[in-house]
Amino acid sequence: MIAKHIKNLAPSGIRQFFDLVLGMPDVISLGVGEPDFITPWRAREKAITALEEGMTSYTSNKGLFVLRRAITDFLEKRHNLKYDAENETLITVGVSEGLDLAIRAIIERGDKVIIVSPHFVAYPALVEIAGGEVLYLKTRQEDGFKIDISELKILMKKNPKAIILNNPSNPTGTAYNAEELRKIWKVISTKDTIVISDEVYDELIYEGKTISFPALDNEAKKRTILLNGFSKAYAMTGFRIGFACANPDIIEAMTKIHSFAMMCAPIVSQVAATEALRAQKEVVEMRMEYKRRRDFIVKELNRIGLVTPKPQGAFYCFPSVKNFKISSLDFAKRLLFEEKVALVPGSAFGKEYDSYARISYANNLDNLKEAIIRIERFLKKL
Ligand SMILES: Cc1ncc(COP(=O)(O)O)c(C=O)c1O
Repeated sequence: MIAKHIKNLAPSGIRQFFDLVLGMPDVISLGVGEPDFITPWRAREKAITALEEGMTSYTSNKGLFVLRRAITDFLEKRHNLKYDAENETLITVGVSEGLDLAIRAIIERGDKVIIVSPHFVAYPALVEIAGGEVLYLKTRQEDGFKIDISELKILMKKNPKAIILNNPSNPTGTAYNAEELRKIWKVISTKDTIVISDEVYDELIYEGKTISFPALDNEAKKRTILLNGFSKAYAMTGFRIGFACANPDIIEAMTKIHSFAMMCAPIVSQVAATEALRAQKEVVEMRMEYKRRRDFIVKELNRIGLVTPKPQGAFYCFPSVKNFKISSLDFAKRLLFEEKVALVPGSAFGKEYDSYARISYANNLDNLKEAIIRIERFLKKL
């Protein structure tokens, strides 16, 4: 009964692994890509009030104008990036839907799409569902998992229709500065390739400064679909709100699919997201706490023998288990069963990353300290 291309689609490596974790008591989870904080109160309070006032209807397909306007104001302030709230923004059901819409709006059967690996699990699957062909651009630990410009040049010769960039990155936490992004854009701009820029961790940067990809220059802005949302920096995963900004033609095409497939994002969540943009103090506090945890976990992982470059953003690090001569899946399974610490095998983020693991530090410091004790004990047994 199932369509062949869906049947052949590999299930998410993260989900497969977490089916194992479910139901196991006393597990310290360093696996999930989800903040351990609760959504700032002022956003939750607005959602409650919206319900009390009977806001239970659809919104326009593109989303509440007040939210779209708040987003364009925010992008102008943060990145000096100007979008027209009416024609150049769309509210999506998380960045997940934004990715699906962006890919489906531009990819035709056989079109090539560059994905930088290790990569967020959804990218290749969404490209495949749309009938596209994935070109993997591999990055290495010794380069801080940053794109090698000469390898990008080689892949660009294949005339890709799109490239998906994720800055800062899940699963490595790598973040690019403006100068590095300019070098990447210089190569991409030699073709008509569209950039899908997933910036869902944009506000979780601990070192240096980055800029949003479309803020590089006018041409970059015309050719970029900027995707961002509220799940990570605002701790709003369950509200399911993201947004897309792009030129009016692309937004129109994405809105067409969105209006048939989704109709609109939930109104209560849109109200909460509008208010969340005012919770900048809380965002800064969460960011400072993630930074504290990152500094702790990276120092400790390196001390116990798991080589881990210091990530500049998001809430992940991507240590190597190479020295222990064990596959990432065996490492993760044994660590889970023997010491009750869950992390995600690197192979979930690309088949070349079987000697890595993803650790999320969206967990409190006490748990991180206990996890390090358990991992150190486990490593001694290997
Ligand atoms: C890189 C990246 N993009 C998109 C998403 C999806 O986020 P959302 O909750 O907004 O759908 C995630 C979630 O983990 C992610 O890591």
